[in-house]
Amino acid sequence: MAIRLGDTAPDFTAETSEGTINFHEWIGDGWCVLFSHPKDFTPVCTTELGYIAKIKPEFEKRGVKILGLSVDSADSHREWSKDIEETQGHAPNYPLIADPDRKVADLYDMIHPNALDTLTVRSVFVIGPDKKVKLMLTYPASTGRNFDEILRAVDSLQLTAKHQVATPVNWQEGDDVIIVPALSDEDAKAKFPDGWDAKKPYLRIVKQPS
Ligand code: BEZ
Repeated sequence: MAIRLGDTAPDFTAETSEGTINFHEWIGDGWCVLFSHPKDFTPVCTTELGYIAKIKPEFEKRGVKILGLSVDSADSHREWSKDIEETQGHAPNYPLIADPDRKVADLYDMIHPNALDTLTVRSVFVIGPDKKVKLMLTYPASTGRNFDEILRAVDSLQLTAKHQVATPVNWQEGDDVIIVPALSDEDAKAKFPDGWDAKKPYLRIVKQPS
């Protein structure tokens, strides 16, 4: 069955380029970005995996672990890492699941046969400390993802989790945010004692909580 936002992320045990992991145990109390890419030794994937390695400290700052996946073997992942380092300046510094039997890919519905018959598409799942799926996106093989956008989305998700605020269109760190509709004015007064700018009763703007 397809995974939906708010579902518990399916647990699994899998071999990776850094040894065997149990997914939920490996996530621990933090956040996780689980992503698939179509195939080792392919051009777009090479650029994505190098860039993710480069910005991994930004994910770490936010308490987010990174886990990649393709249907290739762990030996293939390790061999390809050398090319990624040579061409992108950064080798993957996070585990890559080896999923030749597509066990995890099937669990997460990462194979879309009408797009790519045997390979995973570019899926991303952001999973919270409660192991619930907070965000999903799917790109085709030909379109490299914007992992700065994933970071931005993580910032938004973490603000919502902590402060009951939502983020408006094109929001960037430091911009004003929106009090979530589920919070009554009365409850909002306790949380935001300095008040807010109500453009409409349902559009209540506040400074980003720190
Ligand atoms: C790529 O990473 O460039 C790629 C992978 C599979 C199919 C098409 C492109």
